[in-house]
Amino acid sequence: MISSGGDEDARNPYDRARMSRVEAHFDAESSVYDEVIERIIPGYVEQNVALLDAIPLAAERRFRAADLGIGTGRLAALVLERFPNADLVGYDISSGMLEQSAEALSEYGTRVRLARADLADIEFAGPFELVISGLAIHHLEDETKRNLFRRVLEALEPGGAFLVREVVLGDTEEETERLHAEWRAFIRENGLDDAEVLAAHEDEDVPAPLGAQLEWLREAGFEDVRVHWRRMNFAVFGGTAPDAGDA
Ligand SMILES: C[S@@+](CC[C@H](N)C(=O)[O-])C[C@H]1O[C@@H](n2cnc3c(N)ncnc32)[C@H](O)[C@@H]1O
Repeated sequence: MISSGGDEDARNPYDRARMSRVEAHFDAESSVYDEVIERIIPGYVEQNVALLDAIPLAAERRFRAADLGIGTGRLAALVLERFPNADLVGYDISSGMLEQSAEALSEYGTRVRLARADLADIEFAGPFELVISGLAIHHLEDETKRNLFRRVLEALEPGGAFLVREVVLGDTEEETERLHAEWRAFIRENGLDDAEVLAAHEDEDVPAPLGAQLEWLREAGFEDVRVHWRRMNFAVFGGTAPDAGDA
């Protein structure tokens, strides 16, 4: 089920040492991820539902989907349930996470294929009608995010959708500070050490302002770019590839 991917000759040079820390982190935490994630991410389950509800495809449609940074496969499982005729390719840099998702999605058999890949230099096995991504793109530097958005558009069928749930920055420093204070309070209320979570976030993550990411989607050529859900420094957003008739 899991094939190896990734290209050592990355077309987007970036901080490989930081990405190795990200990979090691998710390898180490893959078996406890599902237990802790809802205590760290405000509205994690709501985000799943918001993203699912934003998919502009009929439930019976036969199509191919991709999940970028599939993790333990929770979001992918929801897509596979709601769209029983869809097939899905899940990509992730962490072998530990791919093992978890392989187990969690085993009931879907050949409808699921998993591949180890770094989103910075991924070769998509497209085309897809749907590309989703949860909490993975903030691991990429901004230029690499923008490049990924362009490449996702190339991998989408005309009219296909790209939907993301992400941790974001505010559009100003003041807004980011306020959002981080609210986030810290949420983490503390859930019995976790907010300083530890924020320190790891600063070490491993490079989130971008929501407004900038919406702009990069438009620049890449996406249409109907919008925010479907927002709470604190988390958002569900995305856009659609132009229809063939729009060209
Ligand atoms: C916070 S988890 C999110 C998992 C799942 N998508 C979700 O929404 O719960 C981030 C996932 O992205 C993966 N990831 C991080 N950076 C990546 C990269 N550069 N390429 C591919 N996967 C990456 C991690 O290994 C991890 O499985």
